[in-house]
Amino acid sequence: MQGTEKILVLDFGGQYDLLIARRVRERGVYAEIKPYDKIGLDEIAKEGYKGIIFTGGPNSVYDPESPHCDPKILSLGIPILGICYGHQLTAYLAGGTIAPALDGSEYGKTEVTVEPCALFEGIPETSVCWMSHTDSVKVLPDGFRAVAHTAGCACAAMANEEKKIFGVQFHPEVTHTEYGSKMLANFLFGVCGCRGDWVMDDFIERTVKEYEKSLAGKRVLCALSGGVDSSVAAALMHRAVGDRLTCVFVDHGMLRKNEGDEVETVFRDRFGVNFVRINAEERFLSKLAGVIEPEKKRKIIGEEFIRVFEDESRALGKTDYLVQGTIYPDVVESGKGDASTIKSHHNVGGLPSVMDFEGIVEPLKNLFKDEVRAVGLKLGLPEKLVRRQPFPGPGLAVRIIGEITKDKADVLREVDAIFREELEGAGIRPSQYFAVLTDTRSVGVMGDARTYGYTVALRAVTTDDFMTADWARIPYDVLEIASRRITNEVKSVNRVVYDITSKPPATVEWE
Ligand code: XMP
Repeated sequence: MQGTEKILVLDFGGQYDLLIARRVRERGVYAEIKPYDKIGLDEIAKEGYKGIIFTGGPNSVYDPESPHCDPKILSLGIPILGICYGHQLTAYLAGGTIAPALDGSEYGKTEVTVEPCALFEGIPETSVCWMSHTDSVKVLPDGFRAVAHTAGCACAAMANEEKKIFGVQFHPEVTHTEYGSKMLANFLFGVCGCRGDWVMDDFIERTVKEYEKSLAGKRVLCALSGGVDSSVAAALMHRAVGDRLTCVFVDHGMLRKNEGDEVETVFRDRFGVNFVRINAEERFLSKLAGVIEPEKKRKIIGEEFIRVFEDESRALGKTDYLVQGTIYPDVVESGKGDASTIKSHHNVGGLPSVMDFEGIVEPLKNLFKDEVRAVGLKLGLPEKLVRRQPFPGPGLAVRIIGEITKDKADVLREVDAIFREELEGAGIRPSQYFAVLTDTRSVGVMGDARTYGYTVALRAVTTDDFMTADWARIPYDVLEIASRRITNEVKSVNRVVYDITSKPPATVEWE
C-alpha cells in the first residue's frame, strides 16, 4: 500500500483492536493492525506510518508475561497514542510508575474532566468516557502532564505535546465515550497531520494497477462460492487480469433457490468473466446418502468440494495463481496465533496445500466486511449479491436435519424462498434468516383429508458478530402470511414453527 498515509495499530492483546482500526478508517485514514511482537522498529520506520496507536491489553505492565515493545519506539519521532494498557505501557516505557488504582477498578461509563491539549481540541471540559481498568499511572514520566482525570483516576490522560505522545486510560474507540471519535480525529489530523483521503476508489485503482503489473501474463483461478467475499475478489481480479481469470463455481446441490443461476448471470453474462459452472449435485448427494451426523456432512462437503475443484482445474490446464476472498478480520484472527497462518476461505479450505500454484492472491486481505461491500458496489456488482446475508459453505446440508435427499433439498429450497420473500417484502432484514427442514413429520388436515407432512422451522436472528444472537421479533402477521403461503404452496409441508431460541444456548444454524 505504497503512497497511502497510514496508521499502525500495535496490538497488545486488547479486545478492541479491530474496532480501533475501524474507527481510524472511518475517518478516511488507512489503519493496519500488527501484533506488538511481529513488527520491529526498522520496519515501523521504513513503512512511513503517520502515527501509532498502542491498544489495550489484559495485563499489568509489571507482569513478567506482559507484552512490551522496545522503548526506542518513543524516539522514532512518530506520534503515539496509548489506549488503556497502551497508555500505561507508554508511561512505563517513558520512565513513569504504574500502580493499582486506590479505589479499586473503574468500569463502565465514567465522568471525565479534560484540560486543553491537542487531543481534546473542541471537546467540553466534562463528558462521559468508557473505563475498564485496575491499574493506573501513578507517577508521570518526565516531559508529560496529566490532561484528564476522573473521580477514581488522577491521570485519565497524559500528554507530551512536544514529542506528540499521548495516552488515555479510557477507550475512545467505543461509542460509550461521548467524544471518543472526535478525540481520535484530533489525534489523526491535529497531531499526526493526516489528510484523511483513504477512499474505496483509490483502493480499487491501486489494487488493479498492482495486480496488472505483478500478474502480467499469468493465469489466475478463482473458486467462486457466490458469497460476498469471493464475488468481490473475483470482480476485482477480473478488472486487473481480464480474460486470464477463470472462475470456477461448484454447485454442490445445496444452494438456495435460483442461487446458482443468479451467480452465473452476474459473472458470465454481465461481467463477461470466463466462468465454469460445475453441476455436481449428484456427486454430492451420493456421498451424503445415509449420513445423519452434522459434522460428517460438513466434512464430506468440504472434501468433495476440493476433489471437484481439483478435477476441474486440472482439466483447465496449468494456472499460476489462486484467488482467495480472505478479508482483514480473517487475517488478524489467525495472525494472533501465528502471523504466517492465514485462515483459508470457508469453501476452499485446504486447497493451497493440495494444489500446485505459484502463489495465492488475496486482494481483500486489508479490508473489513463493510469495505468489501463498498468495493463490490463500486465494481458494479448487484446490490442483492453484495448485501447478501451469510450463508454457510455446506449450504442447505446443515439445514436438513437427518438424511439428505434431493426431494428434501427441493422442499427446503421452496420453503426458504417463500420465507425470505415475505420478510424482504415486508422490509424486514434481520442479520440472518432462513428455513430448516426438521426430520419430524406430523399429522394435519387439508380439506377433508388427513395429511402426514414435514414440519419446517423458520429461523431469524439479530446479531453483530454471530458469536451471540437473539431471535428476531418478527411481526405475527408476517409470520402468519409466510406460514399460510408455505403450507399452501409446498405440498409436503403441513406445519410451520418459529424458532425463538437465542445463541447461546442454541446456535444460529440447527446443525
Ligand atoms: P452458528 O450456527 O455456529 O453460526 O451459530 C454462526 C454463523 O456461521 C455460519 N456457519 C457456517 N459458515 N461454514 C460456513 O461457511 C460452516 O460450516 C458454518 N456453520 C455455521 C452460520 O450461517 C452463521 O452465520
